[in-house]
Amino acid sequence: PAPGWSIAADVVVVGSGVAGLTAALRCQAAGLHTVVVTKARLDDGSTRWAQGGIAAALGEGDTPEQHLDDTLVAGAGLCDEEAVRLLVTEGPDAVRRLIETGAQFDESSEGGLELTREGGHHRRRIAHAGGDATGAEISRALVEAVRARGMRTIENALVLDLLTDAEGRTAGVTLHVMGEGQHDGVGAVHAPAVVLATGGMGQVFSATTNPSVSTGDGVALALRAGAEVSDLEFVQFHPTVLFLGPDAEGQQPLVSEAVRGEGAHLVDADGVRFMQGQHELAELAPRDIVAKGIMRRMQEQDAEHVYLDARHFGAEMWEHRFPTILAACRAHGIDPVTEPVPVAPAAHYASGGVRTDSHGRTTVPGLYACGEVACTGVHGANRLASNSLLEGLVYAERIAADIAANGLHARVPQPLPHPETPEHPLQTPEGRFAIQRIMTNGAGVLRSAKSLAQAADQLQRLHTDARDALAENGKTAEPGVDTWEATNLLCVARVLVAAALLREETRGCHWREDRPERDDTAWRRHIVVRLNPDRT
Ligand code: SIN
Repeated sequence: PAPGWSIAADVVVVGSGVAGLTAALRCQAAGLHTVVVTKARLDDGSTRWAQGGIAAALGEGDTPEQHLDDTLVAGAGLCDEEAVRLLVTEGPDAVRRLIETGAQFDESSEGGLELTREGGHHRRRIAHAGGDATGAEISRALVEAVRARGMRTIENALVLDLLTDAEGRTAGVTLHVMGEGQHDGVGAVHAPAVVLATGGMGQVFSATTNPSVSTGDGVALALRAGAEVSDLEFVQFHPTVLFLGPDAEGQQPLVSEAVRGEGAHLVDADGVRFMQGQHELAELAPRDIVAKGIMRRMQEQDAEHVYLDARHFGAEMWEHRFPTILAACRAHGIDPVTEPVPVAPAAHYASGGVRTDSHGRTTVPGLYACGEVACTGVHGANRLASNSLLEGLVYAERIAADIAANGLHARVPQPLPHPETPEHPLQTPEGRFAIQRIMTNGAGVLRSAKSLAQAADQLQRLHTDARDALAENGKTAEPGVDTWEATNLLCVARVLVAAALLREETRGCHWREDRPERDDTAWRRHIVVRLNPDRT
């Protein structure tokens, strides 16, 4: 539908996690008229759920160079070293600025930040808040700052498509706004700079640590707009997610790596510590190695999960250091103080996304991306734990600086075609569950050419059925948040599966059972996808 209302701004930031709100605050501080739009409430994204913390070389004896080394090793040969260098050198000051904005991190008894360890880090460099509620504290501080500065925000606003001018430059976004108010229905924010900070796509799988809003909307928008997207095959599965049964669906409770960082052991059904001997860091090996170690042991024992044993922490430490996890476990009838916690890997983080340069610019002029939706090159084939909050901070600041430095010129948006086209027919709300099942069975933590080809066929069928229904009836489903989300999920799932099929090797978090070796000769490179932006 044609937008029913429109407003204008210099910058529209889409998303309200650490990346979006940092970008918005910095843009506003630079004197730019900034509007934040977000799909649910301001604090409903993934940031709020982050537990372990934010990594930066802040500890005594630690250096950005050592943080760089750990990040490159985790990234399995595919990190962009310059992008990582910017992250680790600008990171410590970006964290200090976050503290100035109001975020309160845990301090040690000697004063100064209390730092912990997580997988792949050779140093204690993870700052945390509220024990294991780091994201909630960051979100609280940023939301309060945005409100205190009177910034214009539009909540319950699902972004639909990018508006561009006759030269293909960014001119704003269209939105579907739900709820009561001035801006209900389909509308537009006109702005020559759009910052995508829409988060991840974990909901493409049945079981994920991501909240229900993580449906790949930003990547789908970017693909429809003709922007380049890269590395979608690298989906990180978090090794230790509370196991709630084989059929558990939707967002699952995370058991932070920091629990292992403080000395918890991974044990199998016989109580054996199976990560010892597999890697010099044992339970604290990079995340892909631990997830694979767990999956292997589960296969060997025909088990649905393994256990995380931290009974030796005792009640006081559990209550003080990991109150969120303790409460989540107890809510599900498990007491980590007296029993090992059943855990299994679940989808957690998209290492790939909308391709950007070191200023967060995508390949569409005026369109920026930061946070999980972006592929800045810092994560390579496997993100190092707790680098994501840091990436959101650092690259959001770089984007705001770039927009402020380059000046803005109002653009005249071209009319958009109807958002439902034969290339992108709307999925029904039930499509979401079909996509999740297909992806979990065919493109999950273990993949093969056979499983991926089957997933590709099944996804193609969903697409063709919707396209045929559109041709026959003039429409497939009522436009609304659930149908747009299912459509976006299908869009990103198809690209993800195509990339995973193409990458005939095992690297980082992409694990092909039929191609178990890493192939540096053929595959030390990125898979970059660009769809035809001509949607008519
Ligand atoms: C965790 O706390 O284990 C999550 C950290 C991350 O995903 O970076």
